[in-house]
Amino acid sequence: MAYIEIRDLIKVYQAKETYYRIPALRGIELEIEQGEFISIIGPSGSGKTTLLLILSGMAEPTAGFVRIGDVRLDRLNEEARNLYRRTKVGTLWQIPNRNLIWEIDIQQNIEIPLRLMGHQREERIKRATNLLEEVGLLNRAHHRPGQLSGGEVQRAGLACALAHEPEILLADEPTGELDSKTSGELLKFFKSLNESHGITAIMVTHDFDVAKSTDRLIQIVNGRISGYSPTKDLKTIRDMHEVYLDRFGSVQLPRHIVENMQVQRRVNIEHKDGKVILSQE
Ligand SMILES: Nc1ncnc2c1ncn2[C@@H]1O[C@H](COP(=O)(O)OP(=O)(O)OP(=O)(O)O)[C@@H](O)[C@H]1O
Ligand SMILES: [Mg+2]
Repeated sequence: MAYIEIRDLIKVYQAKETYYRIPALRGIELEIEQGEFISIIGPSGSGKTTLLLILSGMAEPTAGFVRIGDVRLDRLNEEARNLYRRTKVGTLWQIPNRNLIWEIDIQQNIEIPLRLMGHQREERIKRATNLLEEVGLLNRAHHRPGQLSGGEVQRAGLACALAHEPEILLADEPTGELDSKTSGELLKFFKSLNESHGITAIMVTHDFDVAKSTDRLIQIVNGRISGYSPTKDLKTIRDMHEVYLDRFGSVQLPRHIVENMQVQRRVNIEHKDGKVILSQE
């Protein structure tokens, strides 16, 4: 049984001002194994952040089945969801001030979740020191975030996200504000922590080079999974030729195919010589 199982996940937002309902996820089907490092790529507005918010317990699914380990996220009430969020999940966001408190130093930032878990001072210092060492910031322990470089700030955020030993690490474009060299460095730490802590990691990114350094790449288009592929041997996003066929027979065509073919609303479909062929006249 996969560690994370998502079936027909739907999320509809209600826009307060207009009363419009906005479908953000339209039937996500996905399985992720424990310890996997997954990247999610997709156009703006395709539902990537929404999926992370649901997996982090910060948003409630509208419908569908979401299981992480033995927790059924779609069945939790708000109180249980808050507990899940505090204990099982670590998060790293693109904007650093969502990850760290600016007025205190890095070590104190890391100690906050440890304090919430009831660890005594000595234990807190020991754990914070280990984490700082793992992200290469031991000599920056008493610097405040504003005194660090962009890459160091995200590495400090990563240490904070892991302080309470979560089972799952969710990151939303953590390299979005970094140059490519610094992104590469952050990813190296990300990967080594994913391996050394045996943590399941899911990272949203716009950057194919960043996605390449994860185990598996998943593409989301318009609130549905359009493709997925191991990243090994993947040279461009167009090499992803496996698409997700859901239980109902639906397929979301990859974006570049839709754009290139200028697909019409109705296409012909035939099953011939073991192949399913879509064509248009
Ligand atoms: N709180 C909200 N209320 C109403 N609509 C929302 C809300 N949050 C997101 N949406 C809408 O849901 C859809 C998916 O948004 P989401 O933020 O998940 O996309 P995304 O793939 O993360 O995009 P980006 O790459 O720009 O970050 C979009 O149409 C967005 O406008
Ligand atoms: Mg987003």
